[in-house]
Amino acid sequence: MSDRKILVTSALPYANGPIHLGHLVEYIQTDIWVRFQKQRGNLCYYVCADDTHGTPIMLRADREGITPEQLIAQVGKEHLADFTEFGVAFDNYHSTHSEENKVFSSLIYERLRDAGHISSRTITQAYDPVKNMFLSDRFIKGECPKCGALDQYGDSCEACGATYAPTELKNAVSAISGAKPIEKDSVHYFFDLANFSDMLRDWTKAGHLQAEVRNKLAEWLDGGLQQWDISRDAPYFGFEIPDAPGKYFYVWLDAPIGYMASFKNLCDKQGLDFNEFWAKDSDAELYHFIGKDIIYFHALFWPAMLSGAHFRTPSAIFAHGFLTVNGEKMSKSRGTFIKARTYLDHLNPEYLRYYFAAKISGGVDDIDLNFEDFSQRVNSDLVGKVVNIASRCSGFIAKRFDNRLSENCSEPALFQEFIDANEQIAELYETREFGKAMREIMALADKANQYIDEKKPWLIAKEEGKDKELHDVCSMGLNLFRLLAVYLKPVLPTLSGNAESFLNLDPQAWPVDAKPLLSHAINEFKPLMTRVEIDKIEAIVEASKENLEKISDTPIARKFEPIADTIDFDDFAKLDLRIARIIKADHVDGADKLLQLTVDIGDETRNIFAGIKSAYAPEDLEGKLTLVIANLAPRKMRFGMSEGMVLAAGPGGKDIWILSPDEGAQPGMRVK
Ligand code: MSP
Ligand code: ZN
Repeated sequence: MSDRKILVTSALPYANGPIHLGHLVEYIQTDIWVRFQKQRGNLCYYVCADDTHGTPIMLRADREGITPEQLIAQVGKEHLADFTEFGVAFDNYHSTHSEENKVFSSLIYERLRDAGHISSRTITQAYDPVKNMFLSDRFIKGECPKCGALDQYGDSCEACGATYAPTELKNAVSAISGAKPIEKDSVHYFFDLANFSDMLRDWTKAGHLQAEVRNKLAEWLDGGLQQWDISRDAPYFGFEIPDAPGKYFYVWLDAPIGYMASFKNLCDKQGLDFNEFWAKDSDAELYHFIGKDIIYFHALFWPAMLSGAHFRTPSAIFAHGFLTVNGEKMSKSRGTFIKARTYLDHLNPEYLRYYFAAKISGGVDDIDLNFEDFSQRVNSDLVGKVVNIASRCSGFIAKRFDNRLSENCSEPALFQEFIDANEQIAELYETREFGKAMREIMALADKANQYIDEKKPWLIAKEEGKDKELHDVCSMGLNLFRLLAVYLKPVLPTLSGNAESFLNLDPQAWPVDAKPLLSHAINEFKPLMTRVEIDKIEAIVEASKENLEKISDTPIARKFEPIADTIDFDDFAKLDLRIARIIKADHVDGADKLLQLTVDIGDETRNIFAGIKSAYAPEDLEGKLTLVIANLAPRKMRFGMSEGMVLAAGPGGKDIWILSPDEGAQPGMRVK
């Protein structure tokens, strides 16, 4: 038993949206590392929580007509269910909207304040006079002061790249109410980060960060540290600042404190000693897994806050890159913005765990999920190499040897080679070089298969008097398979657990000096993993395109949809827009947004699925005219082929307009 004491966290997912495959890069990778530590016999706790505070959550609850507390309770449940089904096994999953977090946030704030690290001053900000609230940059839209592009965010222009203050926007409006913002003064509280310049300069060089991250921080530190605005005015969903009524902690102040709060909650449940992990002189290890987008918060603000409040600082921060799908940013329209739940509806979560493991290195490079590569790698490595060994050997052991392994190990050197690999594999897991670890393990799987190929048990089985040899070979194969399953256990807990049941074993520790199983009774073999089916991936992509309609249901999301890349006139001219008469409209079984339309476009009729059910009953549509894109390539949807696209506009819900009055227009007329 080792004496390491380790506390591990993943970043706290926002409670304003579902878990998607991008998130899972982080949670799966952390979970693998934690499972590895536990399998090694280290004392290791993995805690996380939902990040519940802030304006977007308040506004969404508002729109849905529920309280923020109801919203975060619901989302928290969904998040945890998604994680659990992906095998992400937290020791505690909490919420930042908790008593523990309130206590620690106040405590840390007060310690910082008493040590002179908090100051306050009046600032002028945009204010929505209809909603009666201050507007952060992302809730203001208007025309770019440089190039005049419409509908730009409050801080930068997506058309020309200019950055500016929101007050410089022309014809600015509140993205929440549409009202023209006014300017208003209010007192804000600031954390004086510059007081920690020296401390941070030392800390960021002291081996707590990856090299790429360290370099980035050196740039930030050289640029000088600004005061950090940690307060927000009411209305805000968060914690009120103890000595400042009507002022709330900015969500990013209490979010990392949520790590402590979740651990405190675990301590109270299990009688653990909180201070052993968080006191200034703690000898426990503390690691934060995060995405590269939130390095600033974790490598500057967080260590400064902790040190200013007399807590220990992290042992290390492990930053990772972003997920791309088929080489591109996850995209809602391409169906590659895939929710965890949508994946779970179709595919085995351990495929993804293995695929991510195979792609993860210890660095901050982005990670690509390529569907072809995904199915190929899972099929050839897991099904073709690992599971195959067990299925090749188990049949003979069952049929000819009553499910009992041979009494001797026929290839002790080969077995030892598999054991000796444990140090190298452990080192790779420890340093988060999971991709390299998977390659080592697969090289061993190749060796095991090679052994079986050479011995050819299927031929031995046909020869007279070779029972012992057959028994030895198949037993050897299963002994090697057992070690592969043990090495893969952090990545594939379910598969390895099933392998343990098959081999009639207790949960396996890291095999530092494991001995071969001799004269050991095993259980009946059941298939451990099936091949990835390509049509399941297609179904996921299709279902994710449907998600799009649901996501953009909220007016806010729609308002923030950025303008797509510019197309030239030639591209536009390729669109064949036709007047169409809706001859028939039907509900679609199992689709809550879609109607199936049969439309007459002059010379032919088309079958089109349109996401307009929220606005129209089928009987309102029949006989009416609408506009369709007639030369859009037919698209296979879950419910059938869609042969065109109906054009519609409106904010959504009941207000989607697709119909033109039937005055003189004829089906089939081209619109130019
Ligand atoms: N709530 C903050 C974190 C607070 S930590 C005190 C947040 N939430 S998040 O839901 O946006 O992201 C949670 C984690 O998932 C972050 O580490 C983030 O970097 C990571 N990822 C979110 N999208 C991702 C990808 N597309 N790819 C990889 N990781 C991604 O940030
Ligand atoms: Zn511009």
